[in-house]
Amino acid sequence: MNRIIILIAIGVIVIAAAGAAILANNGGSPAPDPDVPPHTDVSTAVVYFTETGSTEKIAEKIAEAAGGDLIRIIPSVEYTSADLNYNDSDSRTNKENRDSSARPGIANGIDLSGYDLIFLGYPIWYGDSPKIMWTFAETYDLSGKTVIPFCTSGSSGIGNSASHLKALTDEGTWLDGKRFSGSASYDEVYSWVKGLQTEATA
Ligand SMILES: Cc1cc2nc3c(=O)[nH]c(=O)nc-3n(C[C@H](O)[C@H](O)[C@H](O)COP(=O)(O)O)c2cc1C
Repeated sequence: MNRIIILIAIGVIVIAAAGAAILANNGGSPAPDPDVPPHTDVSTAVVYFTETGSTEKIAEKIAEAAGGDLIRIIPSVEYTSADLNYNDSDSRTNKENRDSSARPGIANGIDLSGYDLIFLGYPIWYGDSPKIMWTFAETYDLSGKTVIPFCTSGSSGIGNSASHLKALTDEGTWLDGKRFSGSASYDEVYSWVKGLQTEATA
């Protein structure tokens, strides 16, 4: 059952991505493509947290490639630049990182009820996802959804960040995630989205 959902979901991503490519190649006017299968009704959201804009840039590219809605996770208390100073062991982010029970609040109500496929994005902080993502994982019901994590970082890989989030929610079908540089091109993001179909059907 889960496999069927994934295949349908990934099919929609690629259909949307193919549509975008067709639009790009035809100066904005869509042309029929016999290789593009009929559209199905899997709706997609790109849900992301960002503080300095890098993850947001990738989220926008994914939303364009996959045809999804963008939803930003907004903290109840915004982070200041002092909060983000990882060189200060007393900074807010350092304290949150050390506190396994820290769950920073989310200011906006996020309605995921209409979505079957969620791309879930965040920056890597201290080798993991920010604690606000832990709040997200524990607050929102991801059951019945396919979740595809992505992150940006200075150099660290995605590591165990996605599996930590998955363990916190224990809901949904999680595909392997991917780390991007904040400056990743649209082509790189598009290739990843397209490759998800190969991964799902292999
Ligand atoms: C508090 C903090 C901790 C960070 N920890 C790491 C890290 O462990 N590894 C890494 O490669 N980059 C780290 N970074 C850099 C961010 O992951 C990187 O700049 C990311 O792309 C920022 O995403 P954003 O612009 O969407 O907030 C850290 C940045 C901050 C502010």
